[in-house]
Amino acid sequence: MQGTSLFMRALHYLCISLWHLFYAELEALNNFLSNQLVVHPGVWSPPAANIIKLNFDAHFISAVNKSILGIVARNSLGQIMAACAYPHTSVADPFIAEAKACEMVVSFAIDLGFIQIQVEGDSLSIIKKLNSTIADKSVISWIVNDINSMRDFFEFITFANVGRLGNEATHGLA
Ligand SMILES: *[C@@H]1O[C@H](CO)[C@@H](O)[C@H](O)[C@H]1NC(C)=O
Ligand SMILES: *[C@@H]1O[C@H](CO)[C@@H](O)[C@H](O)[C@H]1NC(C)=O
Repeated sequence: MQGTSLFMRALHYLCISLWHLFYAELEALNNFLSNQLVVHPGVWSPPAANIIKLNFDAHFISAVNKSILGIVARNSLGQIMAACAYPHTSVADPFIAEAKACEMVVSFAIDLGFIQIQVEGDSLSIIKKLNSTIADKSVISWIVNDINSMRDFFEFITFANVGRLGNEATHGLA
């Protein structure tokens, strides 16, 4: 079982970049993580054995035009294998923030060596584009292409939207 060493690496990741978060971001992050540490029955469903499920939430703070991304990775037993938070500065809008967030989730999984993953977030637009076989022509097409080009790193990768209600574990911010 490689779980222990992955967990140690996760702790390392958790510490990265926390120091340059601003207060509003810290608060959003704290809410995100404390909600994520609890598995809400009927809301979060575990992945199959050997698959890591990554839940993410890009929280846009409109007052300062910034966004913060929280990621939690869990195994089939619901154990947290990794958690991370990234601040994003100067993000023009939530639509782009969402797409960039999804891209960061996938590269985070690559960095940690997860090869079978399920990505879940409350980001319908980007997830629809990633599920579609039609070439995207929107303003985020470059991000969609970037994410699609990372699929080769994985043996298994799916994207799903969990919706506002189902994503209560990742929101619950206000
Ligand atoms: C945030 O960005 C929008 C669009 O670029 C702009 O209209 C608005 O003034 C910005 N707000 C702040 C607080 O910087
Ligand atoms: C995307 O595809 C996955 C399976 O690969 C499915 O579970 C999910 O519901 C789909 N989501 C959307 C929004 O199309």
